[in-house]
Amino acid sequence: MKIKDLDFRVYIPNEKINNRVEELAEQITWDFRGKSPVLVGVLNGCFMFLSDLVKEIDLDVEICFTKYSSYQSTESSGKVIELIGFDNVIKGKDVIIVEDIVDTGLTMGHLLKEIQKFSPKSVKVTALLYKPEALKHEAKIDYLGFEIKNKFVVGYGLDYDGFGRNLKDIYILNNNDNPGTTEVG
Ligand code: IMP
Repeated sequence: MKIKDLDFRVYIPNEKINNRVEELAEQITWDFRGKSPVLVGVLNGCFMFLSDLVKEIDLDVEICFTKYSSYQSTESSGKVIELIGFDNVIKGKDVIIVEDIVDTGLTMGHLLKEIQKFSPKSVKVTALLYKPEALKHEAKIDYLGFEIKNKFVVGYGLDYDGFGRNLKDIYILNNNDNPGTTEVG
């Protein structure tokens, strides 16, 4: 499957994603029983994961969003720009941050620091994907979908240059290092 100039192939099929999202929702429902957490989605990539996840969470939840842009500067030190901040809805609340992917961990590390300024009661993190080999900053993930290899992926909310977010499956770059089809266990 081609997106712009790059060739991708299916890595995690939608059925497998749905099953895992249901499991995460069940776990969250159990762990937060008797509580009303606020889910904070990290835009843009979280939109499909968050949407499927909240439908399966059997609790009274609130939902809000934040948006960051991260890039590596020329000195190779990471920088994060806040585009949509938190609001006071999280003050004194049990918060669950919802991320599409933790790659270097830069965004997550920054978010965890920022969120403390709004005095939440507790903070947990759910991420659909995590690339352990890419991690450079301390990151915490309490509810993880899949650990994946250190390769570029698209689909299910994740984009390549703005495209591919609407794909139901998760795709991985097709090159010689990635023979075979589905590899996520
Ligand atoms: P970080 O390096 O952990 O700060 O990741 C920052 C953001 O980069 C993530 O929230 C994603 O939006 C994006 N990102 C990281 N890896 C990928 C990928 O493989 N495909 C698409 N987007 C990615």
